[in-house]
Amino acid sequence: MSGLFITLEGGDGSGKSTQMALLTAFLAERGETVVESREPGGTDLGLELRNIVLHRRGHIAPRAEALLYAADRAHNIATKVRPAIAEGSIVVQDRYLDSSIAYQGAGRVLDADEVRFLSTWATEGLLPDLTILLDLDPAVGRARIAGGEYDRLEEEVDEFHVRVREAYLALATAEPQRFLVLDASLPVDELAVSIRTRVSALLT
Ligand code: TYD
Repeated sequence: MSGLFITLEGGDGSGKSTQMALLTAFLAERGETVVESREPGGTDLGLELRNIVLHRRGHIAPRAEALLYAADRAHNIATKVRPAIAEGSIVVQDRYLDSSIAYQGAGRVLDADEVRFLSTWATEGLLPDLTILLDLDPAVGRARIAGGEYDRLEEEVDEFHVRVREAYLALATAEPQRFLVLDASLPVDELAVSIRTRVSALLT
């Protein structure tokens, strides 16, 4: 009995948390066992790493940042996600390796293939069954999160977030069977229906 691994990706302010909550509620109503996770910070160790990588004051070298995300991911996948999938659960996770390729690769301008390899090594090659990309103009995303406290990535300049968005779209184009790309400016309910439809097809 093997479960499923579904990830949500998108820029800051794209509505991932909202859609994740709606999806997990839908799956739970259907009687599925759902395990929620996120990166960074899906485990106790991950919460400590999250605090460092998002909120530590001062510069973190791009390669050190990439390794911190990879360390969080390695522990999350080995201790939480793989065991849950093996038990037949549906793991729904906020961000995964595509975040590293988009943010550390395109955003910080590290080599995308090297960043991908780091995640592949960290996770022993685990790929999601489905990745939902909530695509949004970064300016719109930024306006949505305005007023809150920015983390180290959110406070990056606009061009950084434009590169992140383009990298996400390129990843989706390269793997159309894994990705569901949605226009995150659409109404919440409409997005939720599209996600449910695609996920339901995976369950049958
Ligand atoms: P997220 O948890 O979505 O932020 P929030 O809870 O504030 O909405 O993601 C935290 C930040 O980490 C986000 O700006 C993207 C960044 N990130 C990377 O740069 N690389 C990664 O591999 C991951 C997983 C996240």
